[in-house]
Amino acid sequence: MRLARIVLTAAAITAAVSTAFAQETSPAVDPAAGLASWAKVYEVFSHPRCANCHVEDDRPRWSGPHYGATRVHAFNVQRGADGSGFGNPGLRCTTCHFATNSTVLHGPPGAESWHLAPPEMVWFGKSSAEICAQIKDPERNGGRTLDEVAVHVRDDGLVAWGWNPGPGREPAPGSAQATFEALSAWAAAGAPCP
Ligand code: HEC
Ligand code: HEC
Repeated sequence: MRLARIVLTAAAITAAVSTAFAQETSPAVDPAAGLASWAKVYEVFSHPRCANCHVEDDRPRWSGPHYGATRVHAFNVQRGADGSGFGNPGLRCTTCHFATNSTVLHGPPGAESWHLAPPEMVWFGKSSAEICAQIKDPERNGGRTLDEVAVHVRDDGLVAWGWNPGPGREPAPGSAQATFEALSAWAAAGAPCP
């Protein structure tokens, strides 16, 4: 009888300790807050300044109010037979896209090393759920952890261009820093997808 009570008490203490431990080690996972953070990220990733370069086929897009109707890039511009995203020999992206924006309306925008994102990093025409699944998949996000995705958004030059897109083009919403923070908050909340 007495032994049984001691065993039960020990079991209760073990349970209490492991509950406290679990609360201490896993961050407060809050799916609603996570989804609100993801909504901010999606607003940026799906914006024309980002999605026009994140296509699954071989043609960069011209979309958004600055371009009128959505269409493929003029001049028969292609990803490039070598799959590099830098265009075909003879019509490389860098033939027209320099390190800085043209100051002329409808002149080529510019940033260092201008080229298309790999086709598996597709956002153009994709839903929030599809982009969310892609960005979490190391097979399709360049082998990045979510922290590395956030740092890429904060520090990469092509990403930065989205907030400095040259005359007449609407910048992506918010800022690189705000998107970095939204990605970090989303990851900390367990990276929920809609
Ligand atoms: C013959 C010149 C030329 C070449 C080559 C070229 N572009 Fe462009 N690109 C332009 C011009 C000009 C614009 C802007 C047109 C405008 O503002 O109406 C543009 C705009 C874009 C845009 C739209 C950006 C936005 O969201 O506002 C993307 C994306 C793009 N180019 C990607 C590429 C990629 C990737 C390559 C190489 C595979 C490439 N371009 C090759 C001339 C070129
Ligand atoms: C001029 C074309 C271009 C534009 C514009 C562009 N990107 Fe990218 N993006 C790339 C390329 C190229 C890569 C691949 C780089 C790598 O993996 O190292 C990439 C990769 C990424 C990645 C890595 C993970 C993944 O799965 O996509 C993120 C995140 C990203 N871009 C965010 C953005 C955001 C946010 C914007 C708009 C504010 C943007 N990009 C605009 C070309 C572009």
